[in-house]
Amino acid sequence: MKIAILGRGTVGSGVDKIIADGQTPFLKSLSVKSIFVRENKINLDPRNTANYADILNDPDIDLVVETLGGLEPSHSMIVEALNHGKNVVTANKAVVARHIQEFTQLARENNVKFYFESAVGGGIPWIINLERALRIDEIDSIHGIFNGTSNFILDQMTKTGASFDSVLAEAQKLGYAEADSSADIDGYDIENKLCISADIAYNTVVEPGADLLKFGIRNITAADIAYFKEHGWVVKLLGRSFRRVDQFNFVVEPTLFAPGQIEAGVHDNYNYVGLRGTTIGKLTFNGQGAGMLPTAHALVQDIIDIQVQNDHLDRRFDKQLNLDNSTKIMDYIVRTDADLAPLLPDYKVTVDGNYWLVKQINTELIHQTVAKLSGKPFFACINGGAKHESR
Ligand SMILES: NC(=O)c1ccc[n+]([C@@H]2O[C@H](COP(=O)([O-])OP(=O)(O)OC[C@H]3O[C@@H](n4cnc5c(N)ncnc54)[C@H](OP(=O)(O)O)[C@@H]3O)[C@@H](O)[C@H]2O)c1
Repeated sequence: MKIAILGRGTVGSGVDKIIADGQTPFLKSLSVKSIFVRENKINLDPRNTANYADILNDPDIDLVVETLGGLEPSHSMIVEALNHGKNVVTANKAVVARHIQEFTQLARENNVKFYFESAVGGGIPWIINLERALRIDEIDSIHGIFNGTSNFILDQMTKTGASFDSVLAEAQKLGYAEADSSADIDGYDIENKLCISADIAYNTVVEPGADLLKFGIRNITAADIAYFKEHGWVVKLLGRSFRRVDQFNFVVEPTLFAPGQIEAGVHDNYNYVGLRGTTIGKLTFNGQGAGMLPTAHALVQDIIDIQVQNDHLDRRFDKQLNLDNSTKIMDYIVRTDADLAPLLPDYKVTVDGNYWLVKQINTELIHQTVAKLSGKPFFACINGGAKHESR
C-alpha cells in the first residue's frame, strides 16, 4: 500500500521511520510515496511536495496520514482526501473532536476508511478496545488521565516539591509541553479526547465548548501539593463522563486519589484511560499517551487495519443526549483566600487555613462558584483517601 504523510514533524517523521525500518510482513508491504511539507522544505527529500494536488491526483496513493495538527488546513485536506477516494488516518484530536461525524460520513460515502486511534491516548489501543467493548456492551462511563504533559507536571511537583512554573519549563525543555502549553494545562486537550471517546461510547456528537466543564492545573502551587500530600492525597488531572439513559455529564478537573489507587501510581507522561461496560465491568489501559514512536505506532496500526480490511465499528453519531452536570455529587477541596461559606449557604463547608472542604456538591455548582473567585484559586474533586472520611 502506498501512503502520503501530511506534515513532517514529530509524529509524521515517526510514521515514516516505523515504515522505513519495518521488519514485519505488515510493514514491508507499506511504503511512503509522498510527504506534504512547506514550500521551503521540498528540497530536503525527493518524496517531499508542497503541492497537495500531486497527492490527491496520484492514483497509486491509497491512504493519507494527517499529522499537521490544528483545525485548518487539516480539516479541508482530510475532506479533500476522502472525496478523492483516499483512506485517511490522523493523530489530530482537535480536528477529529470537531468533525468526527462529517469525516465518518464522507468516508462512508466514498467507500474508504477514516481512523483516528492515535488521537486519544497516543500509543494506547484505546479507541479500538472501546469499539470492541461496544460490540457487546452499553458503555456508561469513560474516565482517565488523558494528557501526559499535565500528568508529568503534577508527578514532578509531587516527587520534588518544585513550583508549577519550574516544572512546566522543564516539560518544555524535554519536548513534552509546547511553547503554548494552554491546551495541556487548561484541559482543552483532555476535552478533545474525552469528546471523541464520548462520541464513540454514546454514539453521539459532544462538541468541545464552553458548556463542557473544565478546570486545569495552571493555578496549582507547591503548597497545594504539600497540603494534599499531608492529607493522604495525590492530585491528577482527570477527564470523566457518565451516561444515564439519555443524559450525560462531562468534566475535566483536578482529582484527588489515595496513594494506593491506580491513578495515583500513573507517573511521568503516562496516560491511564478506562471505561465501564454492562458485561465487561471496569476496563482500563495504561501506556504512553504521546511521543513520536508510540503515537506513530498507533497510526500505523490503523493503516494496517485498513490494509487487511479489519474494519472498525461503524458509528453514525446520531443519538440525541442531554448534557447535565448537576447530577454528579462529590466532595471538593477549594483553596481560596475568600470566605466560601456565604457563597455556598446550602452546603456543609469547613475551613482549614485557606483550604475549604465542601461536602456533597454537584459538579456544575462547584465550577460556577470557583469561577467567581478572584485571585488564583485551585480546587480538586475528592475521589479517594482515608483521612478525608474522618474529617
Ligand atoms: N507529538 C505527540 O506526541 C502527539 C501525540 C498524539 C497526537 N499528536 C497529534 O499529532 C499531530 C502532529 O503533532 P506533532 O507533535 O507531530 O506536531 P509537529 O511536530 O509540530 O508537526 C507538525 C508538522 O506539520 C507541519 N505543518 C503544519 N502546518 C502545515 C502546513 N500548512 N503546510 C505544511 N506543513 C505544515 C509542521 O511544519 P512547521 O514546523 O514548518 O510548522 C510540522 O512539521 C497533532 O494533531 C497532535 O495533536 C501528537
